[in-house]
Amino acid sequence: MLRGTRVGLRDRHEDDIPVLRAELYNDVVNAARAEGGPWRPVTAKDPRLAVDNPPDNLAPFSVVELDGGTLIGTANLWGIDTHNRNAHIGIGLLPAARGKGYGTDVVATLCHYGFVVRGLQRLQIETLADNEGMIRAAERNGFVREGVLRSSAWVLGEFMDEVVLGLVAGEWEGVGVG
Ligand SMILES: CC(C)(COP(=O)(O)OP(=O)(O)OC[C@H]1O[C@@H](n2cnc3c(N)ncnc32)[C@H](O)[C@@H]1OP(=O)(O)O)[C@@H](O)C(=O)NCCC(=O)NCCS
Repeated sequence: MLRGTRVGLRDRHEDDIPVLRAELYNDVVNAARAEGGPWRPVTAKDPRLAVDNPPDNLAPFSVVELDGGTLIGTANLWGIDTHNRNAHIGIGLLPAARGKGYGTDVVATLCHYGFVVRGLQRLQIETLADNEGMIRAAERNGFVREGVLRSSAWVLGEFMDEVVLGLVAGEWEGVGVG
């Protein structure tokens, strides 16, 4: 298990699946905003839930509270490109776990995984331009807003802008140092 300050990132357990399915992936609004595609009903065997044999370019985690081990969401390093040594971060916290600082800690823990464990050079986050929680959690960890993809996401009846945030290894090492 990867340990942050307050969160742990571990493998998927069978009993995580019904909770994640009900509270995260079958929430139409959350899924439509976070998944970058059309929402459809999610079965228990959906590859986002049952992650027994992930492809090489995906590292899927369940997120738990370190204190007590309660499941609080999912976190992925996805699109891992071992030639250009970059990857993307995706996070989905259960509704009750949002706004408590966990997301910031998950980003930090995924940065450790990406830069130290996997030896990557660059991490990227794409999120809707109005997702203040995701943008702040990224910026708290040193991510820089690199651009806006105008009108790039169709979300529940309207086109929305997306923000691209990036962090390179050298910058991450500098966070908190000076
Ligand atoms: C986005 C998400 C990962 C952020 O994690 P979180 O634990 O809620 O965020 P944190 O509590 O770490 O907050 C980080 C910062 O954002 C601010 N923030 C959090 N939620 C906010 C909101 N809804 N509106 C405005 N600011 C918000 C916090 O005050 C904090 O600011 P600070 O660093 O200045 O103190 C989480 O809310 C989530 O999973 N949401 C649903 C799914 C989603 O949107 N995933 C991302 C798709 S790209």
